[in-house]
Amino acid sequence: MDYSFRISMVMMMMMFAFLSSSSRAFTTTVSRSRITPRRFASASSSETTEVVATKKKARVRRILSGVQPTGSLHLGNYLGAIRQWVEFQDKYCSEEPVLDEEGNEIVTENFFCVVDLHAITMPHDPKELDESTKASAALYLAAGIDPSKSKVFVQSHVPAHSEMAWLLNCVTPMNWLERMIQFKDKAKKQGSENVGVGLFTYPVLMAADILLYKADQVPVGEDQRQHLELARDITRRFNELFCKGNPYKKRCKAAKLPSRPVFIEPNPMIVKTGARVMSLTDGTSKMSKSEPNDGSRINVLDPPKVIRDKIKRCKTDSFEGIEWDNPDRPEATNLLNIYLAVQPNRTKEDILEEIKDLSSWGQFKPKLADAIVEHLEPIQQRYEQVRADEDYLNTVLRDGATAANGIAQTTLHATRVAMGFTIPK
Ligand code: TRP
Repeated sequence: MDYSFRISMVMMMMMFAFLSSSSRAFTTTVSRSRITPRRFASASSSETTEVVATKKKARVRRILSGVQPTGSLHLGNYLGAIRQWVEFQDKYCSEEPVLDEEGNEIVTENFFCVVDLHAITMPHDPKELDESTKASAALYLAAGIDPSKSKVFVQSHVPAHSEMAWLLNCVTPMNWLERMIQFKDKAKKQGSENVGVGLFTYPVLMAADILLYKADQVPVGEDQRQHLELARDITRRFNELFCKGNPYKKRCKAAKLPSRPVFIEPNPMIVKTGARVMSLTDGTSKMSKSEPNDGSRINVLDPPKVIRDKIKRCKTDSFEGIEWDNPDRPEATNLLNIYLAVQPNRTKEDILEEIKDLSSWGQFKPKLADAIVEHLEPIQQRYEQVRADEDYLNTVLRDGATAANGIAQTTLHATRVAMGFTIPK
């Protein structure tokens, strides 16, 4: 008796695992009409759209990412994050259908968020927050994010982020957060008197950002890997605690919701090349806004003269010749990585060939400065255009927030039902 009970339990668990893995790819069907551009499939609050022309299933893949609006964005933010978003957007949101291995269509929806709620986890200046938020959004657009393919929004414009963060705070063990490397680093720099509780729970807010959209792909820099793992752990814990068994099914039925687990596990998309841009004054630490010396970073909006000066003064080493990937020469590797990253059409071999006869940094630095200036120039020009048209920016952000709100509210509602809240009637 006991034995057969156990067997049936195991079978049920296997069924559950199967169902939950297939529900990851919440299936959606989309119109194959050529009239509607194959871009943003469902900005509606629902995750399924009607079949129109064919009955073939299409999977919605959602990509979500964000950057903090702390002052002006630097080369590390741009090369390590925003530029990758543009690449994914252009690759996955073309007019032609994108198919998976089985020939099913994948429709990609992109959400790029200016994470202003994260920006206040460190002391911030209220005089600057509004401007840096707008500047960041404008820079996303200037770098090539296309609002007809991707939604751009400000995190604080979608209140579900704060609310979800609270709900998730209550299911996240303290000791998971105590392990976060970034918290330990930032807290050390701040001194304990100035460390807000928000800094501690920052990764929970990030998990809320991701889980609200059921984002299965999250492009981030290497330094965010641990935060993404935390988001996966929170997903598992939440689904395990609240999305199982008959009582859950009953709550879902009463709320007319499907009784699948509320969250899906996000996958990091960590891009290696150029994803880690280091400081110009210390090749072992990340290029960062919080470093007091502005000479340690290239800001995307720095004028050409400033860029040339910073490169002229940046740290190199006293080894002979120019060399890539020698662990004892982190500055050399960083400068060459930047050189490659700002020339996306070139290969590493091609660059090695170019530099093999250079004997000093004095010969290399002007080339590097030129390449950076040339790469950033068109972005800076587009930035000026976008910033000059406040109405346009406001419209993009309003539209982004509306689309984001629809999806976020749906997930928040399901989360409340799973946790057993009284749902307002
Ligand atoms: N913590 C991320 C960083 O500093 C920014 C971020 C906040 C983010 N929420 C996110 C990135 C959600 C990806 C997805 O880079």
